[in-house]
Amino acid sequence: MHLVLGIESSCDETACAVLEDGRNVRASLLFSQVKTHAEFGGVVPEVASRMHLAKLPPLIDETLSRAGIQLGDISAVAVTRAPGLIGALLVGLSYAKALAWQLGIPLVGVNHLEGHMLAARLEDPQPEFPYIALIVSGGHTAIYRIERPGSYHILGNTRDDAAGEAFDKVAKLLGLGYPGGILIDRLSQKGNREAINFPRSMLHKGGYDFSFSGLKTAVLLHIRQYEPKEADLPDLCASFQEAVVDVLLEKALRAVADQGIPRLIISGGVAANSRLRALAAERCQASGVGLFMARPAFCTDNAAMIAYAGWEKLARGQRDGLDLGAKANESLF
Ligand code: KG4
Ligand code: ZN
Repeated sequence: MHLVLGIESSCDETACAVLEDGRNVRASLLFSQVKTHAEFGGVVPEVASRMHLAKLPPLIDETLSRAGIQLGDISAVAVTRAPGLIGALLVGLSYAKALAWQLGIPLVGVNHLEGHMLAARLEDPQPEFPYIALIVSGGHTAIYRIERPGSYHILGNTRDDAAGEAFDKVAKLLGLGYPGGILIDRLSQKGNREAINFPRSMLHKGGYDFSFSGLKTAVLLHIRQYEPKEADLPDLCASFQEAVVDVLLEKALRAVADQGIPRLIISGGVAANSRLRALAAERCQASGVGLFMARPAFCTDNAAMIAYAGWEKLARGQRDGLDLGAKANESLF
């Protein structure tokens, strides 16, 4: 039995997981710092680092106990080493190094995005390679062609805001609080998505790039002009959400058709969005495309996806030394 301990601390979630034989998630736990950062309207890097430092050791103990194993049973440690907040990354990375050294087991550093790209492989049925991946999170919105673990090609990217960032900024404009994605998702369920025809940026341009800053401005102008009341928010949210989701799926399905790969995975925090999930299922079914989405808890930041990406690297014979550094940015291509 091969047990990989995964550690994730790139932003505001302290996460830990145990993955058995690259397939069975024995435990995946998370301590969310969201409430603390909400007071400031966004993530405060120094506060995030300090909270990771306090929360990671007890979280690892709890994860091992839920997995029904002891520290000595772990075969390898996989840890997020990039991209993210440098101080936050360093906490997880230093802890992972210390564990690997103490236990005399392999250490492997993982790119956080690689975790999101492979997360759907934790589910059943597992998407076969190659597949197209739409990664939509707070920091990234891009379309990739995933050849196999370790071989990734970027097809399109956002030119300004990430989709999750657009959700968070619009929620802020509406005074809904932070993080906004889930709040907009909830309010939208009672709204009419055709109430306001917000722009679909870059929809009719070729290629797979996105732009969300114009949409954010359109929402701002709408608020200034119509001064919406609380009762108007569901329609406004549903219409904004529809504009984001429509463009994301249109471009992802364009990539699927052009590349001739009838398998789409969607991952990252925004993949937890209920409208994105429903419309993706509808459109993929209509066009004969296999849709693979991890459960929402494996779409938002988590350590199970990091353990899995690490397991794939270990299976390819990759190991990292104790000199492995954290990186705020790292290219996968
Ligand atoms: O992947 P993630 O957990 O962290 C990053 O790597 O960024 O993504 C967080 C983003 C936030 O912008 C959050 O508002 C968004 O995902 N998000 C959602 C939903 N749940 C989380 N956006 C739309 N609808 C949701 N249900
Ligand atoms: Zn993420």
